[in-house]
Amino acid sequence: MEKVQHGKLISGLLDDEKVPVTNPVKIQDLTFRDGHQSLFATRGRNEDFMEIAEEMDKCGFYSMEVWGGATFDTMHRFLGEDPWQSLRNLKEKIKNTPFSMLLRGQNLVGYRNYADDVAEAFVDRAAENGMDIFRVFDALNDYRNFETVVKIIKKKGKHFQGSMCYSLTEDRMGGPVYNLEYYLQKAKDLENMGADTICIKDMAGLINPYDAYVLVKALKETVKAPIHLHSHFTSGMADMALLKAIEAGVDIVDTCLSPWAYRTSHPGIEPLVATLRGTDRDTGLDLKQLAVCSEYFEKVSAKYKHLLDTRMSIIDINVLLHQTPGGMLSNLYNQLRDMNALDKMDEVFRQLPIVRRELGQVPLVTPTSQIVGIQTVNNVLFDTPQERYKMTTAQVKDLCYGLYGKTAVPIDPEVQKKALKGYARGETPITVRPADVLEPELPKAEKDVEGLAKDLDDILIYALYPTTGKRFLKWKYGLEEIPAEVKPKTMEDVMREEELVKKAKAGLLVEKSAKAAPEKGPGTRIFNVFVDGEYFEVEVEQVGGAAPAVAAAPAPRTAPTVTPKAAAPAPAAAPAPAPKAAPAPVAGGTAVQAPMPGMIIRYEVKEGDEVKEGDTLLILEAMKMENSIASPCAGTVKQVNFKDGQNVQKDDVLIVVG
Ligand code: CO
Repeated sequence: MEKVQHGKLISGLLDDEKVPVTNPVKIQDLTFRDGHQSLFATRGRNEDFMEIAEEMDKCGFYSMEVWGGATFDTMHRFLGEDPWQSLRNLKEKIKNTPFSMLLRGQNLVGYRNYADDVAEAFVDRAAENGMDIFRVFDALNDYRNFETVVKIIKKKGKHFQGSMCYSLTEDRMGGPVYNLEYYLQKAKDLENMGADTICIKDMAGLINPYDAYVLVKALKETVKAPIHLHSHFTSGMADMALLKAIEAGVDIVDTCLSPWAYRTSHPGIEPLVATLRGTDRDTGLDLKQLAVCSEYFEKVSAKYKHLLDTRMSIIDINVLLHQTPGGMLSNLYNQLRDMNALDKMDEVFRQLPIVRRELGQVPLVTPTSQIVGIQTVNNVLFDTPQERYKMTTAQVKDLCYGLYGKTAVPIDPEVQKKALKGYARGETPITVRPADVLEPELPKAEKDVEGLAKDLDDILIYALYPTTGKRFLKWKYGLEEIPAEVKPKTMEDVMREEELVKKAKAGLLVEKSAKAAPEKGPGTRIFNVFVDGEYFEVEVEQVGGAAPAVAAAPAPRTAPTVTPKAAAPAPAAAPAPAPKAAPAPVAGGTAVQAPMPGMIIRYEVKEGDEVKEGDTLLILEAMKMENSIASPCAGTVKQVNFKDGQNVQKDDVLIVVG
């Protein structure tokens, strides 16, 4: 086994025995992107990065990841920042270190496949605004979803980093799908597409250090492009995985400055730099300069610490137990809790690998982790001995149709057939590149924001995020007041807020973490509460398990729990109207109840419409997945109880057919 060459590590005494640095490990810093995306819900503000930008530039990083992933979304949605401007700002201060971004293939920096014209324009504008390295990935590792963006990256003379999402079939690399041959083939495919570097993207912290060694070594023997390892710390293995990968000859690794490292983020840079000192793979980075930057981030963390999920220990052992990404696990837990079905967790874990296999053994990464996870919950809760996949989400239907791309193994034909029955685009799945079935989107976007958007960058913000993008453009051009919670906070604001939270804790309001809340029941309602002008989201449950009543001020006998508004991680577009109780169903019809709590996306029928059994009555969104609610019988729609956009509780009567 090849090892890193190291001399005597007692410095000073044996300098003449020092090993020459033949192959320094290159470091990409992720603090400005994946660091705060992983720890603080991507809320890092441009002004906080600008202050330290010049010092970061002096560190000697191979590159800095500063943009892409979820940043584009959160900047315009929650921070009132123009994502393009933020990028240009950084470029002014960071003149030597190349910039890198995470690009979700045809999904760009959004959550669906965009049409080719949008993808082309987006990459072109990112390059023009200062992006150097494009790290491209696709949740299904279907590289047809790379074709359009890579063409433009190359045309602009920029660096194309091709990524393979690291996934497992069992608990180690190997088995029938995600084995060494799979990854070597993917790497060859990427090299054939012109990849300048190849990234192993281990987004859930699944890579075992010895597998990292074997994989990197084999990749170095198979492809010429430099190999880059990205591994989240989530399971606690990433430090070791980086070291073993370095021993195997990996060229570039990803780290964060230590204050924004570890947990679901990445290994910290300082211990790695110290570890490699005096070896032939010495990074050459100066710990003192890194310390200047880390001290700054230690200080600025005060602004963000309320966003850190401190309920879990630093290591998420569930990743080791179930190979389930942390975010996915909390989604499953929340969904089951909302359904009062936490006792079904074991059954969900049992069925998860089955559902995943039936759906093509997809890697579990956003958005596929959510798609597979929520479908598993639906199967566990709603399937009958006679019927499986009784409640199939719209996203599973899209996956079965081929809209996300080609799955690692074919989707189970029975599941696919059932999912596509009555599917709007057609019942026969496509085999072409998904974007081939999408019409151009840019002309319509341009028209929609005519008079509001001043340039293509503005139009793209809207094209990617119509609702929040338009709202942002209104903020940008002063047509709408920027809400207080979107405006930047100073350290003084942070101190004041801390005082406020203390006050809230001491008074009527009890902070969630300070007091163990009882299990949430069906009567839980969410209220917006203002304390000293500060906005809180308060969940209120009626004690005694009374049936949900109309939304009103908290009754005296309630046990409120409070969370500062900013901590709410749900990236919902606009706050949905407060839930209201459904009116009593009219007599003489069949009441269709909500099978789960969620939000009405839209009713597909109105009062008086004739429906057949099995017709879709409405679309109910739960955990970001859309569920079509079908009519249980033929008849006339007698009553529609909610409006589009309203939240409903489990068992609320949504519609009456008779
Ligand atoms: Co990542």
